[in-house]
Amino acid sequence: MRVFRLNINGIKRNIVCDPEETLANVLRNQLGLTGTKVGCGTGQCGACSVLIDGKVVRSCVKKMKSIPDNTEIVTIEGIGTPDNLHPIQQAWIVHGAAQCGFCSPGFIVSAKGLLDQNPNPTREEVRDWFQRHRNACRCTGYVQLVDAVMDAARILRGEITMEDIAFKMPEDGRLLGTKYPRPDALAKVTGTCDYGHDLVLKLPENTLHMAMVNAKVSHANILSVDISEAEKMPGVHKIITAADLEGKNVMAFSFMAMPNNKNDGRDRPVLCDKKVFQYGDPIALVCADTEEQARAAAEKVKVEYELLPAYMSGPEAAAPDAMEIHPGVPNVHFELPVIKGEETGPIMEKAPYVVEGEFYVQRQPHLILEPEVGFAYIDDEGVLTVHTKSLVLALPHIVISLTLGLPPEKVRIIMNPVGASFGYKLTPNPEVYMAVGTYITGRPVALHYDYAQQTYYTGKRAPMNTYAKLAADKDGKLIALEHDVLIDHG
Ligand code: FES
Ligand code: FES
Repeated sequence: MRVFRLNINGIKRNIVCDPEETLANVLRNQLGLTGTKVGCGTGQCGACSVLIDGKVVRSCVKKMKSIPDNTEIVTIEGIGTPDNLHPIQQAWIVHGAAQCGFCSPGFIVSAKGLLDQNPNPTREEVRDWFQRHRNACRCTGYVQLVDAVMDAARILRGEITMEDIAFKMPEDGRLLGTKYPRPDALAKVTGTCDYGHDLVLKLPENTLHMAMVNAKVSHANILSVDISEAEKMPGVHKIITAADLEGKNVMAFSFMAMPNNKNDGRDRPVLCDKKVFQYGDPIALVCADTEEQARAAAEKVKVEYELLPAYMSGPEAAAPDAMEIHPGVPNVHFELPVIKGEETGPIMEKAPYVVEGEFYVQRQPHLILEPEVGFAYIDDEGVLTVHTKSLVLALPHIVISLTLGLPPEKVRIIMNPVGASFGYKLTPNPEVYMAVGTYITGRPVALHYDYAQQTYYTGKRAPMNTYAKLAADKDGKLIALEHDVLIDHG
């Protein structure tokens, strides 16, 4: 530990912390300045940008030991407040530059760094600045962000006023087709919008922090799980394994069973005990006083595997000699034939033009900025309550209630502000782990993925292998189509 004497947002502060700690963690965890967001945590996305002596710095990779005394640090909280906005924040609101808003504090701080040294940038210079400082936005497409910086620069140069760019309510009061600012934009541009991890930092002291023990193999039988060393690690309260879920260790998707589906939706355990089905499958959940302690203990859980063939593509898993990944459920478990019109073979034979080809679309991670995060607790009416970034609240609600055998009125799901999703956040697994943690320990439990877990253990846009054959008549009119699509949900 060491004392650091820093000027933060114009206030001299003495901060006692571990010199190895990152500036982002000190700002957020110790000083409560949660306007600085942490996305990737590895210096790649710019969400955590702050100004250090006027320079834009990614605080998630900035060690405290590298910051000399009397350094001036400016975070989003030091740029403007909801009742005293900086022109950049006003322009961000007006141009719709804060959509999910998770990137907004980092971008606004970065834009301030630019305009402080170049009050009259070109659009190219703005774009180049964000590129150089690795400010990434997954929602907007960047045009609105550059528009906002250009307008803010004009205000700062005195060419226009904040009032000039403010939204004016149309006389007829109709908002359709206008640039009416989204209601949550003010909180997003000032860093006062609390996303999942900001809320985790504000939970009561008795909150347990959970870390998953993820399988580091793709397909295997589990021979043994040894938690004895991990249980002795500092801060550990409970390590949950399949044995704690006797009779409830089924991720209950049974409501999704469909007539053509040979999978009844009950083929996955909550925690693996016999088999690993995919890389990252959770084998245990470590609940500890801090996230760091939980993660350190999770590393000490020993799992012995018997490796099985890893099928890394749809065609490999669909091959006739491939073993069943989920015993009792065929690997090709859902077929949806769509057959219309006449037999295509004879048409193809006679058609003057026939083309065919095979195509592959790769797996697509959504690469949202805010990794998976949420928490659970029992509320004062005895309801198991989960705060989540889920897009479809009914989904975790039904899966938790079926998995744990709770009546639906004893489960409540509340949506946190979401640092984007683009569809990945349909999977209710993390909510089930949070709920299980609270169900077993009786205490509030928070779960926060790091970006590696976000990448390998959340839903993705599925890869597809497609074969297509098209026939056309002499005028180019399409007359027949054979189309086979293999969707890899593995
Ligand atoms: Fe720091 Fe991504 S660069 S959170
Ligand atoms: Fe930029 Fe969502 S608004 S990442």
